[in-house]
Amino acid sequence: MTSIGIHDLAVATTHHVLDLAELAEATGVEPAKYHRGLGQEQMSFPAPDEDIVTMGASAAALLLAEHGTDGIRSLLFATESGVDQSKAAGVFAHHLLGLPSTVRTVEFKQACYGGAAALQTALGIVARNPEERVLVIASDVARYELDGPAAPTQGAGAVAILVSADPALLAIEPHSGVHTADIDDFWRPNDTTTPLVDGALSLQTYLDALLGSWGDLQAHGGPGVDEIDRFLYHQPFTKMARKAHAALFRHEDRPVDESALETSFLYNRQLGNSYTASLFVGLAALLDHDDDLAGRRLGLFSYGSGSVGEFLTGIVQSGYRERRRREATESALAARVPLTVEEYRALHVSYTDDSDERETPRTTAAPFRFAGVRDRIRRYERTAGA
Ligand code: CAA
Repeated sequence: MTSIGIHDLAVATTHHVLDLAELAEATGVEPAKYHRGLGQEQMSFPAPDEDIVTMGASAAALLLAEHGTDGIRSLLFATESGVDQSKAAGVFAHHLLGLPSTVRTVEFKQACYGGAAALQTALGIVARNPEERVLVIASDVARYELDGPAAPTQGAGAVAILVSADPALLAIEPHSGVHTADIDDFWRPNDTTTPLVDGALSLQTYLDALLGSWGDLQAHGGPGVDEIDRFLYHQPFTKMARKAHAALFRHEDRPVDESALETSFLYNRQLGNSYTASLFVGLAALLDHDDDLAGRRLGLFSYGSGSVGEFLTGIVQSGYRERRRREATESALAARVPLTVEEYRALHVSYTDDSDERETPRTTAAPFRFAGVRDRIRRYERTAGA
């Protein structure tokens, strides 16, 4: 059977960055709580003319520049920070990217799990028509209540994934383990711009979903823990992946070996939470920095509060090192413009997702920008960097 999986993937993030040491100092918290306790160093923060559409399109443009649009008939856009209750964010991205009209476009939502759901759907589409390629975009802005306990776990980022037959990066294996439980650990009612979170419950339900998904994977003939070479977990903050790994290995009665986890934290430590994109940002970091992955099996756990989990596995392809985008991702992280805590606060409180008329200031250096709202319609445009 032809293998199907991730042919290429690219990461994009925001114009701004906030150093968590500065946030800690301003709020009277030990910086070590953020650095060691949560495993986070910085968080990406969007400029007023950036959002999930501009980040997602920026990531996808990197893929299309290399692979073109031939064979792409589906654009699956995953997010939990959607910009419209009806229209899919992907339709805006479709226009910005100049994709042909012969593409179906749809939005996926189930908290941070949406990216993995879109990937699974893409695999199914390519299984039916192996000559097709599917563009998956996972893009999110994680905004929490200002000065609340979750504030240091904010962040923003997007990944674009090209799914195809005979993939160059990662062949996804057919078995996966899934888990759904109706839990109120994290949700965002329609009248709020920041989610409501029961932090302690969310940590527990994440681990429950991990073990539930893992058990289902085992019941469906998936590989055992000793047959997986590297583990990747959804990273709301990187320490959460450590907790997950420890829980899985305790469950399997194995000594916990964390050594390979660190590599998958390299980008997320600096980006913060990117919800649907976070697991795949971890995958990008691993592929970019680990030179010994060819033929190795990865285990990937996606968690979306509310809650849904899925444990997938995939085999890294032999040519993966030629397809890496380490330089582009590191440059995007390094190019972010630092915010002072005062500037961050001002941007945070000025954020609105309403449809009032406005023009946004030209700030982003990304290829696409959110220009504002005219006639109650969100307007996007290409920039000089496009
Ligand atoms: N030095 C080193 N470590 C320190 C420290 C110090 N000075 N002070 C505290 N710490 C450690 C604590 O011991 C703790 O570590 P452990 O959990 O390993 O014991 C860690 O820092 C965090 O400290 P607290 O538990 O006191 O932190 P908190 O209560 O202020 O908030 C949080 C933590 C609940 C995760 C909060 O940030 C939050 O609500 N975040 C959003 C929800 C979330 O991300 N949940 C994750 C699962 S849900 C999910 O994954 C979906 C998603 O993306 C949201």
